[in-house]
Amino acid sequence: MSQTPTRADFDRYMVPNYAPQQAIPVRGEGSRLWDQEGRECIDFAGGIAVNGLGHCHPVLVEALKAQADTLWHVSNVYTNEPALKLARALVERTFADKAFLCSSGAEANEAALKLARRWAHDNVSEHKSRIVSFTQSFHGRTFFTVSVGGQPKYAQGFGPVPGGIVHGEYNNLDSVRDLIDDDTCAVMVEPMQGEGGVLPGDIEFLKGLRALCDAHDALLIFDEVQTGVGRTGSLYAYQQLGVTPDILTSAKALGGGFPVGAMLTTDRVASAFAFGTHGSTYGGNPLASAVALAAVEFIDTPEVLEGVKRRHALFREHLEAINARHGVFSEIRGMGLLIGAVMSPAFEGRAGEILPLAVEEGLMALVAGPNVLRMAPSLVIPEADIAEGMARLERAVARLVGER
Ligand SMILES: Cc1ncc(COP(=O)(O)O)c(C=O)c1O
Repeated sequence: MSQTPTRADFDRYMVPNYAPQQAIPVRGEGSRLWDQEGRECIDFAGGIAVNGLGHCHPVLVEALKAQADTLWHVSNVYTNEPALKLARALVERTFADKAFLCSSGAEANEAALKLARRWAHDNVSEHKSRIVSFTQSFHGRTFFTVSVGGQPKYAQGFGPVPGGIVHGEYNNLDSVRDLIDDDTCAVMVEPMQGEGGVLPGDIEFLKGLRALCDAHDALLIFDEVQTGVGRTGSLYAYQQLGVTPDILTSAKALGGGFPVGAMLTTDRVASAFAFGTHGSTYGGNPLASAVALAAVEFIDTPEVLEGVKRRHALFREHLEAINARHGVFSEIRGMGLLIGAVMSPAFEGRAGEILPLAVEEGLMALVAGPNVLRMAPSLVIPEADIAEGMARLERAVARLVGER
């Protein structure tokens, strides 16, 4: 196995649930990546909103190396210092009183959903188990989270889905009024839908969900897996929306590329996860916790968070200028550095065609559904990389519209 791996090895050795690009990135630094051939690419994708501090940020590298020399794993039969420090940092910086640590977004959401059901079961009745979610939402790929997620294609073909889950329409409070009642234990919502099209939640909608949850003694769960850890210009999006959830889930940028997730909640709710009710071998792993602590402490500063807002304005300016020249977008939307460019009617459903053209021009971007070009770059991407990335994007767009 000393031969250099190739893309053909993916087809030969890996289950075919992904269809990766032909190029294989081998090195990253800041907002730039290099593939096996030495071709350089600017990264506006950020590993799908994961690389919050770009690639190999020295603060994260140092935290990982220091922990690697100290302690890797002890199991949850013991606790450990990095996990305790991370939990304290998350609690001190948010509404939460308690944290549950895990290794991914789906796992954090699985914990949130189980906690909500268990809390209602123990405190009200076994009938209080309904979960309200939203069409187009995305909460992960475990069986519970694909069932709660609002994209049926991810749950189909895997046998009977768990019951007691209903879906309202995002940003339509009336649709929730029709679904919620005293048998509802939780409403799960992304404060801005990510995979569903970079669609911000209306503040009145999110406030209305809070009020409906309060009226029916249901828990409000914010899935901040994609919007969290500085992505929208505050540590968590809820902090600038004036709506506080009962449970919040975080992952992706929490570890900046190291697998880690967290579920945050209040004392009132946390008590339902009594000893033995839930767990995860890697939850609170020292390596993951040390990196996440470094990421949170670095990102949750005025300098980085203000920088996100400044860069949002820059992205918007560039995208509007590109659109003024090529007329491909009908709307630029999003918060902070989670930005969506919605394709105009003439290019309806063709966002995905931009991606390979952009790669050829030396730019990585994303889509969110067939109609939205999505960008989730490093929160500290240098302005020069934004300008160069946008020049490359413009060349890709010009090719899409047939000008080049
Ligand atoms: C809002 C949201 N929730 C949950 C997840 C699932 O996270 P993970 O892939 O780490 O399980 C994602 C991933 O895209 C997400 O965007």
